[in-house]
Amino acid sequence: MSEMKEIILNKFNEVFGDAEGTKAYFAPGRVNLIGEHTDYNGGHVFPCALTIGTYGVARKREDKKCRFYSMNFEDLGVIEADISGGIKPAKELDWVNYPLGVVWAFAEKGMKIDCGFDLLLNGNIPNGSGLSSSASVEVLTGFILRDLFGFDVTNQDLALIGQFSENKFNGVNCGIMDQFAIAMGKKDHAIFLDTATLQYEYAPLKLEGAKIVIACSNKKRGLGDSKYNERRQECEDALAALQTMVNIKSLGDLDEATYEKLSPVIKDGTKCRRARHAVYENQRTIEAVRALKAGNIKAFGQLMNESHKSLRDDYEVTGKELDTLVDAAWKVPGVIGSRMTGAGFGGCTVSIVKEENVEEFIKSVGENYEKNIGYKADFYVVEVGDGPSVI
Ligand code: GLA
Repeated sequence: MSEMKEIILNKFNEVFGDAEGTKAYFAPGRVNLIGEHTDYNGGHVFPCALTIGTYGVARKREDKKCRFYSMNFEDLGVIEADISGGIKPAKELDWVNYPLGVVWAFAEKGMKIDCGFDLLLNGNIPNGSGLSSSASVEVLTGFILRDLFGFDVTNQDLALIGQFSENKFNGVNCGIMDQFAIAMGKKDHAIFLDTATLQYEYAPLKLEGAKIVIACSNKKRGLGDSKYNERRQECEDALAALQTMVNIKSLGDLDEATYEKLSPVIKDGTKCRRARHAVYENQRTIEAVRALKAGNIKAFGQLMNESHKSLRDDYEVTGKELDTLVDAAWKVPGVIGSRMTGAGFGGCTVSIVKEENVEEFIKSVGENYEKNIGYKADFYVVEVGDGPSVI
């Protein structure tokens, strides 16, 4: 038995009285290598699942109660929800709104659970870091419900149900990238996903002696969600203006040249820059995957750097903390590419760093960050792993 499995089973036993009839599960976190803020614009993304994520222990109950316990929020104790009279989000349910939202989403899709369950979670993804701890909880919950209640859904369905619950139950208007990357993860591969059609392809991550290093800014996101929804709206407005000129469904339908020709129709300068990012980032992602497949990791890294600049200047979602991490990274020898990852406004950067320079990278970027920002960043050298599983 793995060490983690033993830890979570023991804790379940302690919290819920016994661990009779339980099963243990895992769902990963994710990091996006390139293709940022393109997933709600009908563009491409290129994320991968990580070997860090969320562990869970669950079992069915006889009654209609659901009891939840998180080892990441131990001070909140056991949180209980009764599912007999309909399921609604509630502030006092705190983090439980995420798993409960998935129970609700299954019911909305015609898959009602006929009894409650006990669920214990333990995640090793740094919280609020932009490595999708919430999507990991959503996909894990979906995976567990499928296993416990025998629902006939695919892993891709689990991704869509997770996104639906986040949009409609938790009020965050996210795209499909995070849940898809987690539900469909494959060891040592990134997922090249067209978010307009959900067609996807696994691309082997041959990094030739380089590592993926995550730097976590430790900046709390705060306004992140409202700014996220604001960016979505700006893109929708820009799209509506473009649609008066051309028959397109999303910004992902445009290449750079067509966008440049049509962009004067977007009268608002800010919205124009938002759309420019969405169009160029999508094309950059397609080009980056082509470069990676051709074994040109250097070109891939350069496109990551370009992606950061566009997120900084056109999309304006980086901020001082992420820019400091990336600027410092670009100065370290052996850095193939470095950019912010995820929604932005705090969270993490992702860098591809030659193995022999990783130590120097962590030291140099860490010192630079603390000197300029006043508190420490955390670093994680991550591995690319599989989607959810029974452990
Ligand atoms: C968050 C959202 C994703 C995606 C990214 C930005 O992680 O959950 O759907 O939009 O931001 O690329």
